[in-house]
Amino acid sequence: MRDRPDFNPSVAALPPYNAGMNVEVARRLSGRQDIARLASNENPDGCSPKVLEALASAAFEPARYADPACTLLREAIARDTGAPIETIVCGNGSEEMIAAIARATLTPGRTALTVVPSFGLHEIEPLAAGARVVKVPMTPAFGFDLDALEAALAKVPAVVFLSSPWNPVGPALDRDGLRRLIAATPPRTLFVLDEAYFEYADEGGPDGIEVLRASGIPHAVLRTFSKAYGLAGLRAGYAVCSDAETARVVAAAKTPFNVNAAAQVAAVAALDDKAWMRASVKRLKDERARVRDGLEGLGFRVAPSQTNFLFFDCGGDSADFVAALLKEGIIVKAWREPGFTTYMRATIGTPSENDRLIVALAASDRHDCA
Ligand SMILES: Cc1ncc(COP(=O)(O)O)c(C=O)c1O
Repeated sequence: MRDRPDFNPSVAALPPYNAGMNVEVARRLSGRQDIARLASNENPDGCSPKVLEALASAAFEPARYADPACTLLREAIARDTGAPIETIVCGNGSEEMIAAIARATLTPGRTALTVVPSFGLHEIEPLAAGARVVKVPMTPAFGFDLDALEAALAKVPAVVFLSSPWNPVGPALDRDGLRRLIAATPPRTLFVLDEAYFEYADEGGPDGIEVLRASGIPHAVLRTFSKAYGLAGLRAGYAVCSDAETARVVAAAKTPFNVNAAAQVAAVAALDDKAWMRASVKRLKDERARVRDGLEGLGFRVAPSQTNFLFFDCGGDSADFVAALLKEGIIVKAWREPGFTTYMRATIGTPSENDRLIVALAASDRHDCA
């Protein structure tokens, strides 16, 4: 056997990230060209035309290093969120902020707290830092188990990662639930609220940036341009931290030129056209209600959703359903975490993609779960 480098054992032992299947792979496996990409929670509406105009303008300079401080983008985010600019750190997608926060807070022997089912990186990045990960399961009614989370917070994890709205399940913490968790968070724990799906949340729900700022606890709220703004391929996200010192340490844990020039220009333009984003969110929420009715009509148990996807129990191994759907040229995600392998997550796509999903599921012979 060939010699092996002395890898960092925490990294060498990492589980793979359960990424949605690539479209070319799906074409080869299904023999179809018209792939419905419903596995990665992308925006089927694309992005604002203003983004494409900005990328074609002189503002985008591919030959120059991009601004490592993302000055214009952070100014735009500060205007949009009301957060002080010195508390904002931009990332190569919000996933980079998860990695940076894990690196900034965790060492071997420390603990990160999250939920299960979980967004993969909320577990993978702490594991990469050598930390222990504690996962609190969802309630049978697809909710956050606030009692169990409070008990786990009392054990003083170094960091807690919660997505709300919750990927992969779909519901969001309400104001009282968020306040309960904040009150239970020990002073030295960093509370990370991942709001990747914030724009799809019900109106009247809590704005994590505001609620956490008012709380005064150490925190970071993560948001992204990948979902409602439709820039998943460009990679831009950000963390709004409780204070400048937390932002400095998170920024120290990222690579210097992390957000590329195209992503910075595009994200600024996207924030300049929130009307486009709001119209897209409205369309997708209407579509989400229609797809939910379709799935429930087939007998599936569907979780409540404040996101651009639906999570539902297939009543059998979801990998079998996913394989059957792939033959029809539809990519969805089979959940693989132990205890949740009967669940599937399907992104809300275009109306015709969604129709294809419902027709293909209706044709499957195992939709008789309660
Ligand atoms: C909860 C959550 N956080 C973070 C991300 C990362 O998004 P990005 O790196 O594209 O900003 C995702 C992507 O699916 C997500 O679902």
